[in-house]
Amino acid sequence: MIKKGIILAGGLGTRMSPITKSVNKQLLPIYDKPMIFYPLSIMMLAGIKEILIIVNKGQISQFKKILKNGENLGIRILYKEQIKPGGLPEAFIIGEKFINNQSVALILGDNFFYAQSLTKTLQKSITLNNGAKVFLHPVKNPKSYGIATVNNNNKIIKLIEKPQKTKSNLAVTGLYFFDNNVVKLSKQLKPSKRKELEIIDLLNKYRLKNKLKAEFLGRGGAWLDAGSIEDYYDATSFVSTIEKRQGFKIACLEEVSLKKKWIDKKQIYENIKFYGNCEYSKYLKLLIS
Ligand code: G1P
Repeated sequence: MIKKGIILAGGLGTRMSPITKSVNKQLLPIYDKPMIFYPLSIMMLAGIKEILIIVNKGQISQFKKILKNGENLGIRILYKEQIKPGGLPEAFIIGEKFINNQSVALILGDNFFYAQSLTKTLQKSITLNNGAKVFLHPVKNPKSYGIATVNNNNKIIKLIEKPQKTKSNLAVTGLYFFDNNVVKLSKQLKPSKRKELEIIDLLNKYRLKNKLKAEFLGRGGAWLDAGSIEDYYDATSFVSTIEKRQGFKIACLEEVSLKKKWIDKKQIYENIKFYGNCEYSKYLKLLIS
């Protein structure tokens, strides 16, 4: 059973400069809440209460201002710095002590997931104790992602990072589940041409041992990575469209916690006081009225 999760919220956000020159990308708003709320809600929906957030050097206090130690959300949040971007698998090396030889989930801080039955799929995914699991979703621009080729049984037979040419359009999204070999295997990786440890190389190690499973978000599911300005605004308009139309909020952390009985109404009152008079607080009031 996976009890721990890492959110990788480092990176220079170069493609979104100058916006990201003075603020961590993951603290920018996606419509009505900070970007980090979305991946954090995914971890919480999966049932993961112990979270390590990895940020850039000197940025821990920015994140603590909004998320604190997680107690107000009924979870435990720890923070660590990534001194300079060294690739996604570095998260497991930085988080070695936190992982403490257990299995672990990883989500990228700028990845956004929304799909039917996602909660169920996530809850199933944390039962993993052997091997690794990835979520695949079709994209129009396979050159920008890690791409998986699957056979007729949906088994992954090939994985390439940002292929120049590929017949597959199945991207490996930024949500991963790993067994307790992940730290050891990450330490064996060598930096790629872009001088980073590559998640695809790590996943290939599992694949070659026949220990990599694929899950699909499904046709109606949405996966966006808010890496570029264009994608960032797409994510914002997606959330605003759904929230306005349906009246509920995506990634309201208190709502997830309340449903799971990790916090009570009294705690929600406290959080309303903390956020102040805003739309998010109004929504929280509705939850407990
Ligand atoms: C990273 C991974 C890639 C994955 C993508 C998802 O790409 O290397 O395999 O498909 O995240 O967002 P990067 O953001 O480093 O370009």
